[in-house]
Amino acid sequence: MGYQMPGNSHSSPVVLRSCRAVLLWPLLLAALTAGDLAADEVPADSREARLRQQVAELLETTEGSDWIPLIMADLELSTDLSPESQSCCRRILQALAAADDEAAQQHVHTVFENEPERRGMAAAAIASAALTRPGNLRNWRLLVRSLNVVRDTEAVAVLQALQRYRQRANKGHWVRRAILVGLTLPESDRVIAARLLQHWTAQPARPAEPWDLAQYQQWFSREYPDQPLATLPQDAAGAVWTAQSLQGLFVGVHLTPEHSAEGPAVFEKAGCVKCHRRSALGATAGPDLTSLGWRRQRAEVLESLLFPSQELHEEYPTVIVALRDGTTAVGLLQRSADGGMQVFNVAAEIRKFQQSEIESIRSHAVSAMPAGTLDRLTAEEIRSLVAWLTSVDGIPQPHQDDDGQEEE
Ligand code: HEC
Repeated sequence: MGYQMPGNSHSSPVVLRSCRAVLLWPLLLAALTAGDLAADEVPADSREARLRQQVAELLETTEGSDWIPLIMADLELSTDLSPESQSCCRRILQALAAADDEAAQQHVHTVFENEPERRGMAAAAIASAALTRPGNLRNWRLLVRSLNVVRDTEAVAVLQALQRYRQRANKGHWVRRAILVGLTLPESDRVIAARLLQHWTAQPARPAEPWDLAQYQQWFSREYPDQPLATLPQDAAGAVWTAQSLQGLFVGVHLTPEHSAEGPAVFEKAGCVKCHRRSALGATAGPDLTSLGWRRQRAEVLESLLFPSQELHEEYPTVIVALRDGTTAVGLLQRSADGGMQVFNVAAEIRKFQQSEIESIRSHAVSAMPAGTLDRLTAEEIRSLVAWLTSVDGIPQPHQDDDGQEEE
């Protein structure tokens, strides 16, 4: 497709993901700049300011028929990280989510699925629409999934909206997420998470005596012993990289393909290749990371790297195998090539045995991925690694599943 986004100095992954939008763009732009300067002669910041002005007018006047200009404006402004443009996008998404229009609502869902960094914003828009009118199951699923990423006011909106639904996400992962999101909120807002937890878990049985989050944390550890504790991650003592210093590497940085150049080399150097595959590189003991950039936002990836045991994959359960000879092996249980069994441990070592040698198998809520893998890497290397892992250039979007959540 030869069409260039006018006025965008950097390439725009957001727009490239939406071919329909790219095709329609010239229409909107023509409308907005009619009789005026040609688009590429207008400095980007004033163009954005004018676009925001147009959006404000459209939001006042739209009578529920033509949402396309707002969708186009959202796609254009979303690549501008200034607070003005971001808050304009937030208002657009809210209007679209509240609209009684399939295309408008679809755009909000597309933003959620295709742009992990804007997932919280899309979820908050759907949440605020759900507060004023009954939501559908599709929106409910999206709101539940957003618990992996929402923070601050977005988190409050989502926790409140989820209480409006009859459905309960009572699978351990989601209960834990609701507790964790609650713990990130200021003390005064935590009760909102506690109310959702009462709805989902029916604990305590007499809601007249509500629990606080600490009580849900304790209950959770008893009720879901195979899950990691519902506590926020803590930086390891003496860690070279902390959650904060790691986040700091990306503040104000617009990741470009150049950042990714060293990614594959760092992936090998850091030993990730022993357990992960990305495209043609690496092995398959752990999850395939090829489409990671579609599935996870950067903050989630950083958390996986720093605190592997915060989020455990169901498909990669760590087990403790006690063998009849009195020894134990801890790691991922696999079938070995010769038909026997093996455990693949955190150091990527393999211990083989026969099924008949197994005394017992217990689950272990600690990741088979080693912690501290980043400590030998420089800031530049981490940036390359994360830029490369989260880039979706040339990588098809994976099929979306519902993450196995339950409902009643
Ligand atoms: C010894 C094996 C092992 C090594 C080495 C390892 N990982 Fe992992 N990793 C895993 C396993 C197993 C999981 C999934 C289960 C879990 O989270 O406990 C995982 C999970 C992840 C996830 C989350 C995946 C998702 O779908 O959300 C990311 C991201 C990740 N690893 C990146 C890395 C990177 C980058 C490195 C190198 C710095 C690395 N891992 C090194 C085994 C490993």
